[in-house]
Formats: sequence, C-alpha cells, structure tokens
Amino acid sequence: MRTQVLQLGSFLPALEQGLEQRFDLHRWPDEVPEQAWLAQRAPAIRGLVTGASLGVPNATLARLPALEIVAINGVGFDRVDLPYARERGIRVTNTPDVLTDDVADLALGLVIGLLRDLPAADRYVRDGKWLTGPLPLGRKVSGRRFGIIGLGRIGRAIAVRLAALGPIAYSASAPKANQNQYRFVADPVQLARESDVLVLAAAVTATSRRMVGREVLDALGPDGYLVNIARGTLIDQAALVTALQERRIAGAALDVYDDEPNVPDALRALPNVVLTPHIGSATHETRAGMARMVLSSLDAFFAGASVPNALT
Ligand code: 8YV
Repeated sequence: MRTQVLQLGSFLPALEQGLEQRFDLHRWPDEVPEQAWLAQRAPAIRGLVTGASLGVPNATLARLPALEIVAINGVGFDRVDLPYARERGIRVTNTPDVLTDDVADLALGLVIGLLRDLPAADRYVRDGKWLTGPLPLGRKVSGRRFGIIGLGRIGRAIAVRLAALGPIAYSASAPKANQNQYRFVADPVQLARESDVLVLAAAVTATSRRMVGREVLDALGPDGYLVNIARGTLIDQAALVTALQERRIAGAALDVYDDEPNVPDALRALPNVVLTPHIGSATHETRAGMARMVLSSLDAFFAGASVPNALT
C-alpha cells in the first residue's frame, strides 16, 4: 500500500497531480467529515498537505495518530501549532523564498493603486464617466515616508521596492542585522506616527496579533494609508473599518482579512479602500515553484533524507 496522505483544501493541478502520483491521497470533504469517514482512514494517514491560509487545527491533528509530516503550501505557518507538532514529533514544512517577490510586487502595486486610485480610474473609463470630466485627483506616491512592520524576507523585499520612492523606516522585535540603510523604530505606534504609508509584512505571533488597532490607526492619521499583505489577524478589522468610515485614516489596501473569504459589507462598501482576494503568491510561476517545494519536502521526508524548509 502506498503512503496515505490527507489533503486539506484545493491546490494547483500540478501539486494535486504530483500528490496523486506519489501517494494514496485522501481529500478532506468540504463538510466536517463523518466520524466514519475519518475513522476508516485516520489510522493509516502519515502525511497532510494544507494551504498556508487554511492551516490545520489541533483537533484534526489529534484525530491522526500516525501523522508524521504536515507540508504547508505557503510561507505562513500561523495556522499550524508548531509547539504541538513538536510534542507529537510531527515534521512541519513550508515554502519560503519562492513567493517573496510576488508578495512584495503586490505590496508595491497596492501602494501605488491605493494612492493613485487605480481601481477607481479603471472603472471611471469603463463606465464612460470620462465623458463627464476628469477623475478626481489622487495622491503623490514618490517622496512619501514608508513604514514597514516586519522586516523578514518579504518585508525586506518590500523595502527594496519602496526605497526607490521614499525613505524607509521599520518596526520589528529588534533591529535587523545588515539593514542599517533603513531606520529602526521599535514602537509600531511611533512608526505609524512617522509614516505616510504603513505596510504590514509581519508574521502573526502572540505579540503581533491585532497589533494594528485604534492607537496605531490614529497615529497613522487622516493623511495616512495602511497596506496589509501579511495576515488579516494583524489588524483589529472592526477598528479599521471605523477609522476608514470616519476618515481617521485616508485609505487602506488589503490582500488579507480576518475571516477569508468573507469580507464585511461595511468594508466592501468603502470608497477609500483597495481590496484584493489574498493573491500575494497567486501567479502561475510562483504556485508552480511552491508545488515543487511541497513535493520535494514530502519526497525527502518519506525517503528518510534531509527535509528542506522544515519548521520543526
Ligand atoms: C499562500 C500565504 O501562499 O504563503 C502564504 O503564507 O498567505 C498565501 O499566499 C496561498 O494561500 C497558498 O496556500
């Protein structure tokens, strides 16, 4: 019998075909599976593949007594309990680096799209409104002060792109080595106060979860803009909606949300936002590279070889 692997969520055909070629693949049904469905399969399942934004709850891991590896299709591991996985002796892998450029490119695009109202400009032409007169003026991008929360791989790639437009300051748990070209500001509230555009690129931790609430938003202020390409749970989403409604910040561009794919009506109704559906890594090239990394991690693990991109 081939190795039994459980798939959570759906993936690029290249990844699903690769998994089917290698393993006896079980796809978790959309509805919560009947005990019978899982009980029949769980004892033999040794591997699990899931998306970064989906993760896997401990309750599911606890139902898989023979599980040895969780391969995350993505870089974020905030939805997999690494300490629990370590206790269980479960290897967890992810797909870093391959998606860094895509996410950073999107952040740059969201900054420009937000300040220059590109989505509204596109609709303006499509709707024939240009015939009625010019689009209302946007805001200059070059020369803005950029603040980045989180200067890991993706945060650094964003800084490289935005440094061509204006000065960069960043907030992180500590100053980053070899990043002296950017100004370190320990306090995110102070960083927001000193920024025109605040970009969230941090991992979700007990410290960073909901870090952007009323205090940071009011420090960013009525001429400030927020861009989030990391995780929705970095923000108090209700506080953000209110700040946008009351124009206590000028605008926001979001690729990630609290409860994806559900986005509150109040947020979707706002004129001063740019909203994208978690497409940070969503290009043909990057998703193909991620698929190769997931498969190589699983191949290495089950071959007893050194496992690339292991988090535990
Ligand atoms: C995933 C993500 O890549 O990689 C991450 O952490 O947030 C996403 O872009 C995508 O959801 C595929 O799992």
